[in-house]
Amino acid sequence: MHQSTRITGLTGGGSDGWDVFLKARRMIADGIAVTELTIGEHDIRTAAPILQKMHAAAMSGHTGYAAVPGTDTLRDTVAARVQARTGVPTTRNNVVITPGGQAALFAAHMAACDPGDTALYIDPYYATYPGTLRGVGAIPQAIKTHAAEAFQPRAEELRAHSRNASSLLINTPNNPTGVVYSDATLAMIAETCRSDDLWLISDEVYDTQVWEGRHLSPRALPGMAERTLVVGSMSKSHAMTGSRCGWIVGPEAVIANLITLATHTTYGVPGFIQDASDFALKQGAAFEAEIAAPFQRRRALAKQVIARQNTVGLVPAQGAMYLMLDIRATGMTGEAFAYDLLETHHIAVMPGESFGTSAAGHIRVAMTIEDRAFEQALSKLCTHAEKRAA
Ligand SMILES: Cc1ncc(COP(=O)(O)O)c(C=O)c1O
Repeated sequence: MHQSTRITGLTGGGSDGWDVFLKARRMIADGIAVTELTIGEHDIRTAAPILQKMHAAAMSGHTGYAAVPGTDTLRDTVAARVQARTGVPTTRNNVVITPGGQAALFAAHMAACDPGDTALYIDPYYATYPGTLRGVGAIPQAIKTHAAEAFQPRAEELRAHSRNASSLLINTPNNPTGVVYSDATLAMIAETCRSDDLWLISDEVYDTQVWEGRHLSPRALPGMAERTLVVGSMSKSHAMTGSRCGWIVGPEAVIANLITLATHTTYGVPGFIQDASDFALKQGAAFEAEIAAPFQRRRALAKQVIARQNTVGLVPAQGAMYLMLDIRATGMTGEAFAYDLLETHHIAVMPGESFGTSAAGHIRVAMTIEDRAFEQALSKLCTHAEKRAA
């Protein structure tokens, strides 16, 4: 049977850069102890009070179809949180609840792009981005960035493609680089979106994980509320990856259409998950800081380990749960280094090449294992790089 090119062409063919990760998983299945510094998943579980709330909500009957846009309560809570953090007036009519940030990314691009439209995204990028853009029938166009500039996009490179595009997808704090976009970068991005009439899709799923500088939501910049769709999620901020609860914040008219889209695709998010998410959000900033704290601690440990040697470089680690390490002094590609490290020391990291071409010669390290083991793995990684460079 013929399958649509939309589905068969989703990943764009070829290796999607996950081979090292898959090899690590095979080694683990074969009984080999592998230190996994690959995927962005906390080493803690969802907090017990959130699970208790989920259970109580389900037991009290919130197990039928839930309101497709999201419950009024959760939409109000998300709106209030966004307004408090950005100063932009936001009501429940600016919010649609989605099954996680990933579904929000897809839906936001459905809203912004017609089939055949060009959709821009910044390289290095979160691995699903190009496939998500292809999935809505758009033509993905990567905007290169440079390690020497801490992967902040350049105006001239963005403007070389923005005139003919419909949307621009950005992510700050950034996965995979750990960089937080500066106010100047965001002002340049906003100016480009306004002058070239682009939708800005702002993936802010790491907005509670900022170690240096500040997170500025571009929806708060002049003239941007009417052309920005903010993607948010409970996954990273509240250690609720498996609950699949996220949202889009945007102009009322587009949210109304996104609710119609949800009616025809997801039909909403389970009510007991929404009740638990609402409870989790109401724990406030102190709880979010507690969830983020292990990454901040491990980042400090990593800075100490990296300061002791000169082979491995650290891209400014300003936010999110990852470090981007420059291993070009070894003369190896990120992919070759990642394979070598896995085979020699059974430590799994992601090659920079998994996230596009701009992070070639780098590796991404997820700070998602316990502090001591993390520090030891990073020390081994650095010693390994020194040996290869020698
Ligand atoms: C940058 C970025 N955006 C979106 C997501 C999707 O998150 P979720 O669907 O769990 O909300 C992730 C997950 O790792 C991510 O790193």
